[in-house]
Amino acid sequence: MSQNTDVRIKDFKRVLFFTGAGLSAASGIPTYRGKGGTWSQYNWQECACQEAFDKEPERVWEFHNVRRTAVAGCEPNDAHRAIARCGEDGQRRVTVVTQNIDGLHQKAGSKEVIELHGSLWRLRAPDGSTVENFDVPLTALRAPAGHWWRPDITWFGDALNEKAIQMAAAALTTCDLLVSIGTSAVVYPAAQMPVVAKQAGATLVEVNPEATPLSDIYDVTMRMTAEEAMKLLCEGL
Ligand code: APR
Repeated sequence: MSQNTDVRIKDFKRVLFFTGAGLSAASGIPTYRGKGGTWSQYNWQECACQEAFDKEPERVWEFHNVRRTAVAGCEPNDAHRAIARCGEDGQRRVTVVTQNIDGLHQKAGSKEVIELHGSLWRLRAPDGSTVENFDVPLTALRAPAGHWWRPDITWFGDALNEKAIQMAAAALTTCDLLVSIGTSAVVYPAAQMPVVAKQAGATLVEVNPEATPLSDIYDVTMRMTAEEAMKLLCEGL
């Protein structure tokens, strides 16, 4: 593992950006852990799991409406935009595998985005069907069947969406560069995904101002913010 910063996106053909909440920090969206993190202000057992939703759907929706309202006012930052530009010259395939639910990759123009943990902007009816909904705050909270819509987000204790896992696995086993940006690497199964890319022979870069439990598997660690790292990684594009 080295701190060098001479990896450049232009030298790779199949790039996978593996992103977490730290990527959206510069857009004004709090991370989950660390200083000012969401989980230091809220108890996820009361507002972000199926059990809480079954017990008090209104309270869970209040938490998610507060987040929808906050995120609706946020824009992609320079790092989101740099990621979206990486594929524009047609010289490489760029896939984003994100743990984020804020939709900012899509808003920045990224085309291939796999949302491992769902989306703040999608609702799921009891029959499993989903619908995009950008109303803020959400008012009609009941599905046609009179039950509650739930946020189409992977809560603690939920299984990940099978299709998302399959798409992520295909990207992880075929990329030649994986750039992990802004994740604390503590929530599984997402946290172990960079290991799959490493075993498949990809070059691994970690972008995070702090070390994580997975830092040792990376070929290069860039102890800086997403915006600073993307400037360096995109040189020559
Ligand atoms: N640039 C890059 N990294 C940053 C920046 C920045 N500007 N600011 C903070 N970070 C790093 C922090 O050092 C931290 O390691 O981003 C990471 C954010 O970690 P978490 O808040 O744990 O976010 P994440 O890893 O995405 O959480 C994973 O946990 O709560 C669940 O489902 C939720 O998807 C989420 C999952």
